[in-house]
Amino acid sequence: MKPKNLQTKIFLDSGNPDETKKVIELLGFLDGQTTNPTLVSKNPEIAVRLKKGEKSTESELLTEYKNIVDEISRLIPDGSVSIEVYADDKTKAEEMLQQGKTMFSWIPNAHIKFPTTREGLAAVEQAIKKGMRINMTLCFTQEQAAAVYAATRGCQKGDVFVSPFIGRLDDQGDNGMDLIANIMKMYKVGDGHVELLTASVRKLDHLLYALQLGSDIITASFQVLKEWGEGGMPLPGDDFIYDSGNLKPILYKDIDLAKKWQEIAFSHELIDKGIEQFSRDWNKLKQ
Ligand code: E4P
Repeated sequence: MKPKNLQTKIFLDSGNPDETKKVIELLGFLDGQTTNPTLVSKNPEIAVRLKKGEKSTESELLTEYKNIVDEISRLIPDGSVSIEVYADDKTKAEEMLQQGKTMFSWIPNAHIKFPTTREGLAAVEQAIKKGMRINMTLCFTQEQAAAVYAATRGCQKGDVFVSPFIGRLDDQGDNGMDLIANIMKMYKVGDGHVELLTASVRKLDHLLYALQLGSDIITASFQVLKEWGEGGMPLPGDDFIYDSGNLKPILYKDIDLAKKWQEIAFSHELIDKGIEQFSRDWNKLKQ
């Protein structure tokens, strides 16, 4: 059962429905699941074929992705399931939008993941007009989160997630958890229509600190949720202090949420690297 005073929604970060089943069994609940091209490539059936050198056509691969999220969706019919569009450095907004429309029709509880890039934001501006629920991924900066807020103004709470990638910032020596605290502080003056989804969680302490900060949603791997569940689903007490070790602080910036998204400049090397990794992992599955 979900701990009574736990407000944060807990998602599983995985492309494997067997893990969904196991987490539900272990925790007694699951609020949602996030997938991405890398996680799909690690789906056991797909991984076996990949190892044998077997490839799929684009349409076969999309059917497989659809089947995976369909199975997950049936396991958590009241939750949310994130499905990611394909994007490389050349993919235009219109192309992402068309993919998003198709993916959104796959299951009743989809959130469509678009990269938080200029093309991704342009796609999302149209997607929300068509009533699509979205999850803006590959967020590494406070400016991107401000741009997501601005691009989705007018949406209802629950329709828009923004996913800051904590672990990847930690990997390069920056304190990823600072980004969560900074976005939460910035969003405090907003209308609450964007939910913050802490992603790229690598360890239990990330999860505990995100809970302490009051992140709307946290997505974590099977391993992290298993550790949390086996430990009795602890919540951080008042005495919990997150130890960021030698990681470099990420400082808070004053950003006006009233700006248009097109006026908010942002860049980060991890955005481009992330796009490259996701497209590479998808393309290696293809003929
Ligand atoms: C979830 O939506 C993200 O795609 C995922 O958490 C990224 O995690 P990673 O940095 O471990 O690949």
